[in-house]
Amino acid sequence: MEILRRPRRLRATKAIRDLVHETDLHVSDLIYPVFVVEGEHIKEEIPSMPGIFHYSLDTFQEHLKEIAVSGVKSVIFFGVPDHKDEVGSGAYDDEGIVQRALRLTKSLYPELICIADICLCEYTSHGHCGLVKDGCVLNDPTLELLSKAALSCARAGADIVAPSDMMDGRIGHMRRTLDGAGFENTLIMAYSIKYASAFYGPFREAADSAPAFGDRRSYQMDWRNKKEAIVEAALDVEEGADILMVKPALAYLDMVKTISDRFDLPLCTYSVSGEYSMMKAAALNGWINEKSVVMESMTAMKRAGAKMIITYYALDIARWLIEEA
Ligand code: PBG
Ligand code: ZN
Repeated sequence: MEILRRPRRLRATKAIRDLVHETDLHVSDLIYPVFVVEGEHIKEEIPSMPGIFHYSLDTFQEHLKEIAVSGVKSVIFFGVPDHKDEVGSGAYDDEGIVQRALRLTKSLYPELICIADICLCEYTSHGHCGLVKDGCVLNDPTLELLSKAALSCARAGADIVAPSDMMDGRIGHMRRTLDGAGFENTLIMAYSIKYASAFYGPFREAADSAPAFGDRRSYQMDWRNKKEAIVEAALDVEEGADILMVKPALAYLDMVKTISDRFDLPLCTYSVSGEYSMMKAAALNGWINEKSVVMESMTAMKRAGAKMIITYYALDIARWLIEEA
């Protein structure tokens, strides 16, 4: 029997496999999420996310050293404030928890890329991502507040602001606000394709940001849909986004591929809390090889077209990449 084409020749040894492999994961692709809280001496593990903690600013300063030595170059901040109100004022308070964390981080590690997640849900008493009236989440009045939050974080030192609210017109509004205040060099990473996903469950526990009534389906995308993702991404490009994002990641790699093929801006994907919890829980039970499953999943995100990945595994991956090198 005559077989001329033998693809297995390219898999024969590790050296050959390494020679021909197509997709790489680099430590510079990783963005590490952190939760900062008010108070002192707090380092509290999030029950549904073993290995991920709430940090007060003093313990966060210690953790920053670990981040710095890990080689991870980007951090995205989420704030868990003491005080919530109807209008989410903690989000645009210059003395807010994220603003203080940004100033601290930038003073100690000016080269670390600081990303501020911009939303109201952690700061509103009702837990929605915008202003609420008669049970509805208002669009246009929310834009003012989001832009105020973005400007406040830019002033505190954020290199990138990342609006995650999914209101219409927010990127354009934010771009004009930032430009008008002299922050034309602050980047906007748009959570462009953000689905109304049950995979955010552990995050909402961590950030205490679950909506008090209803759900987020009137602003986050319907996961049955693909075409509206193109509309969302196109609008964000038009309105001035610098980086696009698809969220969640693992169950949405078709969308990572679609957006990466159609748009020429750098693409981020967010491997969300539920993805982390699933892998971590199986790993703690000894049911999967954690390192292998995580590396395979992250590389799949890169293969689908993501340039960068927000992942709670960032510090572990950085370590594994060094071990492998
Ligand atoms: C806030 C926000 C959420 C996440 C990031 N920013 C939660 C939500 O929209 O309910 C989810 C992150 C994760 O699950 O890891 N709008
Ligand atoms: Zn929100």
